[in-house]
Amino acid sequence: MRHWVIVPAAGSGRRLGADVPKQYLPLAGRLVIEWAIEPLLGRDGLLGICVALAADDRRFAQLPLSRHPGVEACAGGRERSDSVLRALRAIESRAAAEDWVLVHDAARPCLERADVDALLAAVGADPVGGLLATPLADTLKHADDAVRSDRTVAREDLWRALTPQAFRYGVLREALERAEAEGAAITDEAAAVERRGLRPMLVDGRPENLKITRPRDLELAAAILMARGAGE
Ligand code: C5P
Repeated sequence: MRHWVIVPAAGSGRRLGADVPKQYLPLAGRLVIEWAIEPLLGRDGLLGICVALAADDRRFAQLPLSRHPGVEACAGGRERSDSVLRALRAIESRAAAEDWVLVHDAARPCLERADVDALLAAVGADPVGGLLATPLADTLKHADDAVRSDRTVAREDLWRALTPQAFRYGVLREALERAEAEGAAITDEAAAVERRGLRPMLVDGRPENLKITRPRDLELAAAILMARGAGE
């Protein structure tokens, strides 16, 4: 299956409070970004990996990963969706409209190879694509202005969106270009695709595929990776 990988890694990760952007924090013997990309390497049909970096990034070029065949870097943008769009433009002369593009956050180090395989198998011949996601397990509360619960929100049809998200190059490019032109705030690729009236497939993925956001997430990610035998 012809596919590209795009890794938005141009965030500053300020919410985490570290000097180093979260994708470059050490985790179980490697860096977060190295863990994030590893499960996406080596599949048949992989055409290239484009990593979108901040303008002042000097760290990526130091990693052995940057010299891996098929890995290239491009400049990211102001928002995550700008970074993804720039990466799509960087590969445009080589990508076909029907090629799959897997977009995976550099800050998600606990992705399992099996979930990538499941995503690719699920989207298969679909004209649109889909994303890894996980059904909500907890009861949801809506907060009032005083941060008191004023109602319980039905969770039956709610899922948490994860990455990778896999879309056809042409579908994703058009959806992101349109969202940019209309000034719409887009938090993931699926949101841009939904705005075009299309319905991305929700593919059940492991909830451990967390995004590093708070310091505690790093400890959790380390525990998840160690439980899988990392560092042995
Ligand atoms: O900040 P957030 O957790 O939503 O970032 C998700 C991913 O998007 C991270 O890997 C981050 O580096 C990336 N990002 C980006 N360009 C931006 C903002 C975030 O590539 N302008």
